[in-house]
Amino acid sequence: GTGLADGAPPSVETLCAACHGPGGNSVVPFFPRLAGQQAIYLEKQLRDFLAGKRKNDVMAPVLEHIPEADIPRIAAYYAAQAATPNKPDNEALVTAGQAIFNDGNTGTGVPACIGCHQPGGMGNERFPRLAGQHPAYAAAQLKAFKTGSRSNDKAKVMRTVAERLSDDEIAAVVEYLATQ
Ligand code: HEM
Ligand code: HEM
Repeated sequence: GTGLADGAPPSVETLCAACHGPGGNSVVPFFPRLAGQQAIYLEKQLRDFLAGKRKNDVMAPVLEHIPEADIPRIAAYYAAQAATPNKPDNEALVTAGQAIFNDGNTGTGVPACIGCHQPGGMGNERFPRLAGQHPAYAAAQLKAFKTGSRSNDKAKVMRTVAERLSDDEIAAVVEYLATQ
């Protein structure tokens, strides 16, 4: 292993797993899955919560219990965990969502998500993984980008994307991503 990812800091199991599940495979749909997420993205979001740049009434107080020096190790731990895929509930939605993800919607100016989030939504060092994420969480984030309630620096690019997505397109694309 890398040394970083080998051992979870104790806080991960005692504090984070209560909501994000064992190994970051959360069960409750409003708590995002962290398993297999890109480490750079995880670290950035944790620092944004701490600094109040990404506002969240749940995560901000939780992070007061974490030494800031542990953040890179926590991010490396979750990035190294295997993600368990979700099962599709609705095949028609999955198919429609795959088309939006891969091709966007030229009629309304929705860009192809794949251009940033990579095939199957796996992400890379610049863009977060979306594969396997809970539809309820992902849809809530798209709505938060749209209204501007998630507004840290890098969220601005997502605002222009989310503003162009209809509610039906959101429902479809998040269903597709959950199956990846
Ligand atoms: C979001 C990590 C503890 C509830 C997040 C995100 C990360 C994270 C990285 C952003 C995920 C993304 O953008 O995809 C952690 C860590 C924890 C911890 C490392 C322990 C130190 C908790 C606990 C709860 C919780 C205990 C519940 C009481 C949430 C919620 C969100 C979130 C509701 C979504 C926030 C939003 O809608 O913007 N967490 N978490 N987390 N976490 Fe945690
Ligand atoms: C974040 C979906 C297109 C760049 C996100 C998140 C979702 C999402 C759900 C939040 C991830 C999380 O909280 O874990 C989509 C969909 C797209 C799309 C469905 C197509 C319709 C794009 C494009 C770009 C992009 C084209 C690049 C130009 C980003 C970035 C973030 C992000 C930089 C992270 C924002 C931050 O750091 O807070 N996307 N995305 N996305 N997306 Fe997209």
